[in-house]
Amino acid sequence: MRQEDPVATAAAAHRERDAMRRAVELAARGLGHTSPNPVVGCVVLDRTGRVVGEGWHKRAGGPHAEIHALAEAGDDARGGTAVVTLEPCNHTGRTGPCAEALLDAGISRVVYAVADPTPTAAGGAATLAAAGVDVAGGLLVEEAAAGNAAWLTAARLRRPHVHWKYAATLDGRTAAADGTSRWITSAASRADVHRLRAESDAVLVGSGTARADDPHLAVRGVPGATQPLRVVLDTAADAVTPGARVLDDTAPTVVFTAEDADARELEDAGVEVLRVPRAADGPGLDLAAVLDALYRRDVRSVLLEGGATLAAAFLSAGLLDRVTGYLAPVLLGAGPAALADAGIGTIGDARRLTLIETVRLGPDLRITAVPHTTEEP
Ligand SMILES: NC(=O)c1ccc[n+]([C@@H]2O[C@H](COP(=O)([O-])OP(=O)(O)OC[C@H]3O[C@@H](n4cnc5c(N)ncnc54)[C@H](OP(=O)(O)O)[C@@H]3O)[C@@H](O)[C@H]2O)c1
Repeated sequence: MRQEDPVATAAAAHRERDAMRRAVELAARGLGHTSPNPVVGCVVLDRTGRVVGEGWHKRAGGPHAEIHALAEAGDDARGGTAVVTLEPCNHTGRTGPCAEALLDAGISRVVYAVADPTPTAAGGAATLAAAGVDVAGGLLVEEAAAGNAAWLTAARLRRPHVHWKYAATLDGRTAAADGTSRWITSAASRADVHRLRAESDAVLVGSGTARADDPHLAVRGVPGATQPLRVVLDTAADAVTPGARVLDDTAPTVVFTAEDADARELEDAGVEVLRVPRAADGPGLDLAAVLDALYRRDVRSVLLEGGATLAAAFLSAGLLDRVTGYLAPVLLGAGPAALADAGIGTIGDARRLTLIETVRLGPDLRITAVPHTTEEP
C-alpha cells in the first residue's frame, strides 16, 4: 500500500480549507440575485493545489458556481480539486448537472460543505463517487450554512425565511410620543438596511406602516442590486391607495388583502392584488397563507420591516427566523415599543434568542439573533 506523506496531506487539507473560506466569500456575492436557487461559491485547485478557477452563482437561470470556476480553470482543472460550498447538483434544470460538468472537466476530487437538501438536486456526491471521484463533504459546514441560511430554512420549511428588522432607541422605542421618528438611527444604519433589502427577495410591511409612513421599500445606494418584491398586508385594501410610493415602478409590488376585500381601486390601477384567507384566530390575514403564496412566487427570503403589530403576529405564529435590531444610543422614555403584544404574559414564556452577531454602525449597534429552534449556527 502506498504510504501517504503526512506533511503533504496536511498542506493539502490546509489549502482546501483556505479555498472553502474563499468559496464562502464568493457565494455571498450572489445574495439577493439567485432565488429560488441557493448562493454557491466554488474554487478549483489544480493537481498541485494552486488556485486556477473561481466562480459563484450570479443569478437564477445562469450558470452554477462550478461552471464559472471550471471555465476559468480550463485544462488546469484536469486531475484537480473542486471546492464548493454546496453539494454539486445532479439534475438538469435551466442548466445542466454540475456533477457531469465536473466529470467532463476531469476533476479528481470534490470537497463540498453542505449536502443539498432538495430532492431534485441532491445526489451529486453519489454520482461523482460512483464515477471514481474522491468526494468529501462537511468542510466548514457551519460557515457555508450560515451564508445560505435563508435558502436552507426555506428548503426545510417550504416557506420563505423571515427576517424581522427594526430600528429603536436604547430603551426600545420606535417613535416619540407624538409619533415623530425620523430619524432615530444614523445614516450608517439606514444604509445598512438597504443592504439587507438588497439581499432579500421580498420586503414586507403591515397596513399600519403603509398608512403612517407611505414607505417606498425599494433599495437605494446598493450598486447592481436586484430590487426585492415589495409586499404590503392590507386586509381591507384601504391603506394602500393609487399614488402610494410603494406602487411606483422602481420595483414590483404585491398587496395582500382578504378574499372579500373590495380592492377594485387598486386592481383598476393595475396593482397586483393577492387574496388570502383571514387569520383564523386574530386580526388581519392568515400569515402562513401569505408566506405560502410568496414561496410559490419563488420568494425564499422576506425582510419584515414592521411594524410592531405585524412583527408580534409573526412571532406568536412561530414564523420569525431571524431578528436584527438597530439600536441607537438615544432615550425617549415614551412612545411605541419595537414589538407589540405577542401574547407573552409571564417571564417564563419570554422568547429567548441566540445572539449571533453584534456590529458597531457609526454611533449605533446592530444586534442579530435567531430563535433557538432555527438551524442557523
Ligand atoms: N422603527 C422601526 O423599525 C419601524 C418599522 C416599521 C414601522 N414603524 C412604525 O410603526 C408604526 C406602524 O406599526 P403598527 O404596529 O401600527 O402597524 P403594522 O404592524 O405596520 O401593521 C399592522 C396591521 O397589519 C395588518 N395585518 C394584516 N395581517 C395581519 C396579521 N396577521 N396580524 C397583525 N396585523 C395584520 C393589520 O391591519 P388590517 O388588518 O386592517 O390590514 C394590522 O393592524 C408606524 O408608526 C411606523 O412608523 C417603525
